[in-house]
Amino acid sequence: VSRVIPVSTFDLVLFGATGDLARRKVLPSLFHRFQVGQFSEESRIIGASRSDMSKQAFRSFVAKCLEEFSDTASADESCVKRFLNLIDYVQIDASTETGWDVLSSKMRPQIISVFYLSVAPGLFGTIASRLRASGCSNRESRIVVEKPFGHDLPSAQALNKELLNSFEEDQIYRIDHYLGKETVQNLMALRFANSLFEPLWSAAHIDHVQITVAEDMGIAGRGEYYDQSGAMRDMVQNHLMQLLCLIAMEPPSKFSATAVRNEKVKVIQALEPVSNANIARGQYVSSMPGEDYLDHAGNPHSQTESFVAMKVQVANWRWAGTPFYLRTGKCLRERVSEIVVQFRDPPHMIFDGTEGHKGNTLVIRLQPDEGITLHTTIKDPGPGGMRLADASLDMSFADTRVPTERSQDAYERLIMDVVRGDQTLFMRGDEVVAAWEWTDPTIEAWQEKRFAPSTYDVGGSGPEDSLLLIHRDGRRWRPIG
Ligand code: BG6
Repeated sequence: VSRVIPVSTFDLVLFGATGDLARRKVLPSLFHRFQVGQFSEESRIIGASRSDMSKQAFRSFVAKCLEEFSDTASADESCVKRFLNLIDYVQIDASTETGWDVLSSKMRPQIISVFYLSVAPGLFGTIASRLRASGCSNRESRIVVEKPFGHDLPSAQALNKELLNSFEEDQIYRIDHYLGKETVQNLMALRFANSLFEPLWSAAHIDHVQITVAEDMGIAGRGEYYDQSGAMRDMVQNHLMQLLCLIAMEPPSKFSATAVRNEKVKVIQALEPVSNANIARGQYVSSMPGEDYLDHAGNPHSQTESFVAMKVQVANWRWAGTPFYLRTGKCLRERVSEIVVQFRDPPHMIFDGTEGHKGNTLVIRLQPDEGITLHTTIKDPGPGGMRLADASLDMSFADTRVPTERSQDAYERLIMDVVRGDQTLFMRGDEVVAAWEWTDPTIEAWQEKRFAPSTYDVGGSGPEDSLLLIHRDGRRWRPIG
């Protein structure tokens, strides 16, 4: 029995249709949702880009990217064919008038229209206003924009303004793909669908929280973008911030876009500025020639960080005194994203010889191997007397899934939410602004004080000072991998 809930028929226009993200994520995600029957053959996907291409040529392009990035091996041929039949193409140069009337003639006014902007942020405003002026969009349309949503506060505010000139906030879907990950939603279920954790969810019972997003890949091939950005802008301002919000937020009164996002904004607004003393920055270095960060960045003098770790305080009643340690970096030992909630030690230990037995730890794994583990202490089984041992309650989401159901990629879920008109898992304008308001002074302080990144070895756990950052508080990072 399929558990897929079908969405209404839609026309989705994909700007930047031949770009990397479209190829790797957007088109394969649409295919997978079509394959499971979430939308019908009535829907249409219209590629738009500057390339001079026929509809047929674009369909071949889509067929190729499905072969490369989706699970066509398990799909029957007719399914691929039927999907390709939904595909159309218009040649549009966003900066000129050409092509908009053709696009407008293809739109069906009674059908939900989604405009997916997989293009550089510099084009968001122009495309939005041309969509409106050419009559392609209407009050029911949705517009989807990808990160980076600005590179600082003024640029993010300017982007908000440009989009709001042509669309209302309830039509704008700012993607942070971390919010589409299965475990991220499970985090909300864990906190707000169980009565077990919430009474303990505060500084009174939680010693600290760690949020780690470690990647094993470097930045080779995208050095030009990355070197302008760095880990703070590329990962912390958006993805890690979203994870922190979901851990730290107050329970919303319902699971609605407004209620959830109101609570998230309050967390961001409660973040204290982070001084340089509470930050470690790093650049990777390799034993292989030409494989250092500086080589990949194409800039021998770059001061951009490929790793950052920081100690963050959420200044409110719930969290005063419980630090949040964040860390993310490229070229680390393994690709691991996890949140560690470390509960306080029992206030008084009645057993002898219990050194090393700490409070409970809740580990929420985002990738790989999504799941939640609660580390507990039990009596060491057997006749050895009252000795303590670690035991874990382990929930792997792969085990709880219906075996025939493949797990959805974050983009699949998010795109279907756009069609449904559900903004819960998207960033609201004020949320992005609040995140930049917090990020900007930190980055500015680095520049003012010439706070240079230290180095760390490819395949390791990050720079030495990131270890000191937490050790000096008498705590340890959970090992990466
Ligand atoms: C992107 C960043 O937003 O997220 C990349 O720009 C990063 O630098 C990627 O590699 C990580 O996403 P995921 O889903 O692979 O953890």
